[in-house]
Amino acid sequence: MSLRGVILAGGKGTRMGELTKVTNKHLLPVGPWPMVYYPLKKLTGAGIEEILLVSGTEHMGDFVELLGSGRHHGCRLTYRVQDEAGGIAQALGLAEHFCIGSRACVLLGDNIFRDPLVPILELANSRPDWAWIGLKEVPDPQRYGVATVRNDRIVAIEEKPPQPASPYAVVGIYIYPPDVFGIIKTLKPSARGELEITDVNNHYLRQGRLGHFFLEGYWTDAGTLDSLDYANHLVRAEPPRF
Ligand code: DAU
Repeated sequence: MSLRGVILAGGKGTRMGELTKVTNKHLLPVGPWPMVYYPLKKLTGAGIEEILLVSGTEHMGDFVELLGSGRHHGCRLTYRVQDEAGGIAQALGLAEHFCIGSRACVLLGDNIFRDPLVPILELANSRPDWAWIGLKEVPDPQRYGVATVRNDRIVAIEEKPPQPASPYAVVGIYIYPPDVFGIIKTLKPSARGELEITDVNNHYLRQGRLGHFFLEGYWTDAGTLDSLDYANHLVRAEPPRF
């Protein structure tokens, strides 16, 4: 089964203050490039040539101006508008037609990480009908989805728990089989009014079809002023591997 790439670059961007008053978070600089280049280069570096980018109405034109057809990046880009920031799972739902008959490698546009995708995709290919998620030990897991792992199996995932049961953040790298879109249609909005990707992952967990991998190199989101600074520091010290 083929694998298509999805970059989620919508959202409200409310955590960045004046920096995102006139632009989108994913267009801010991280090292030498706009942030969105990192997920794009991860996907193309792993040989994925069909890529969908999802963003809101306000800045879609800027993404098209920056990336065009994808020709200069060795890929073919498709764009879909998410009218309102209704959550990561809602944004992924917009990829349904793009992904017909394919699995999806989904990257959150504000996640910066060192590891290349190829070994991760090889692992995911061992069970193509499972969903696969990445984990990374972090000092502040309450900011993220948090997975409890026992005997090398995930037993629970909680979204931003005030008292995290483990230090393992769920990172923004997901690989899904085609039935993910049916699952998204069954979701209800969470307390923060979003369709949560954690609910999707818990669905696969309940079905015994959730695999995981640990990132070896650095990982951060870059969605706050502090984490954007940190992402810049990381990529300058050690460029990501594509
Ligand atoms: O960074 C990893 C974390 O990302 C995970 O550990 C969490 O489980 C997951 O819920 C998410 O947490 P955040 O609440 O911090 O995600 P944020 O709202 O910052 O959105 C992450 C990316 O998804 C961002 O690059 C934009 C995109 N996005 C987000 C929303 C809410 C969309 O494209 N559309 C949306 O509606």
